[in-house]
Amino acid sequence: MVTGGAKRVGREICLRFAAHGANVAFNYRSSGKEAQETLRELQSAGVRSMAIQADLSDADSCRKLVKCLLSDFGHVDILVNNASEFPRTPLAELAGDPERFEREFNYHAYLHMRAPLYLGMELGLRMKQKGWGRIVNITDRVTVKGQAYRDWVLYLVTKYGLYGITQVLAEELSPEVTVNSVAPGLILPPPYFTPQEVEQILKRIPLRQGASAAEIASDVVHLVLSDSKTGSVVLTDGGTGLHAL
Ligand SMILES: NC(=O)c1ccc[n+]([C@@H]2O[C@H](COP(=O)([O-])OP(=O)(O)OC[C@H]3O[C@@H](n4cnc5c(N)ncnc54)[C@H](OP(=O)(O)O)[C@@H]3O)[C@@H](O)[C@H]2O)c1
Repeated sequence: MVTGGAKRVGREICLRFAAHGANVAFNYRSSGKEAQETLRELQSAGVRSMAIQADLSDADSCRKLVKCLLSDFGHVDILVNNASEFPRTPLAELAGDPERFEREFNYHAYLHMRAPLYLGMELGLRMKQKGWGRIVNITDRVTVKGQAYRDWVLYLVTKYGLYGITQVLAEELSPEVTVNSVAPGLILPPPYFTPQEVEQILKRIPLRQGASAAEIASDVVHLVLSDSKTGSVVLTDGGTGLHAL
């Protein structure tokens, strides 16, 4: 089960699992057309596949997602919490608009924390009961070295939360289930970044390039195949975290 699997990195992860012969379910929120395309590719890879529309910022929708997964697939062995949002949320703007703060804080907390914890709990405990399971959470490079950058307050705070959830579930679900994270730096810039902004970011990366979505999919598979990693992090950031100011 891959969250946010219709396009970009999530899609690559779905297709990689299919290439390994795994049946794949994924959810999408608004990318219905891309979800159908990904579904077609999964089907042509010869695995059983399912796309479920579900808004992970909504508790009911999360419950229905689990119900749907369990009734159609019966059991989930591997969960990848990939779905995310990356909007600018500068601190001063949030402070000046309390309603926006409440709304956007709750949205980010639900998407990056509540949904992964809920899915990890519901599916992870079932994996544990069955004797085997893998959970991989996609966080962000900043969580590895306690870093931060300005203007993405809610994304960063809740990705730190997701890192915490990873560590806590790693303990709770052991020894049957491993729970790890992949912490990427730049992969695919969001569509609203200008070419100049992307160029500036690339200049600050020692390897001068972002990771490909394919490399992140490899990181996920690497963690899934490991029998000795739990609470571990794969940092794939082109060396960005090397810079001391
Ligand atoms: N891209 C990067 O450079 C980068 C850098 C560091 C970390 N990461 C992390 O790597 C992962 C993949 O990155 P990405 O850029 O491919 O992610 P993305 O495009 O920002 O988001 C992936 C998917 O999340 C889904 N999603 C968003 N809000 C949702 C909601 N409320 N309910 C259900 N699904 C929701 C979207 O589905 P719909 O399209 O169907 O709405 C979207 O396709 C993310 O966890 C991201 O934070 C990415």
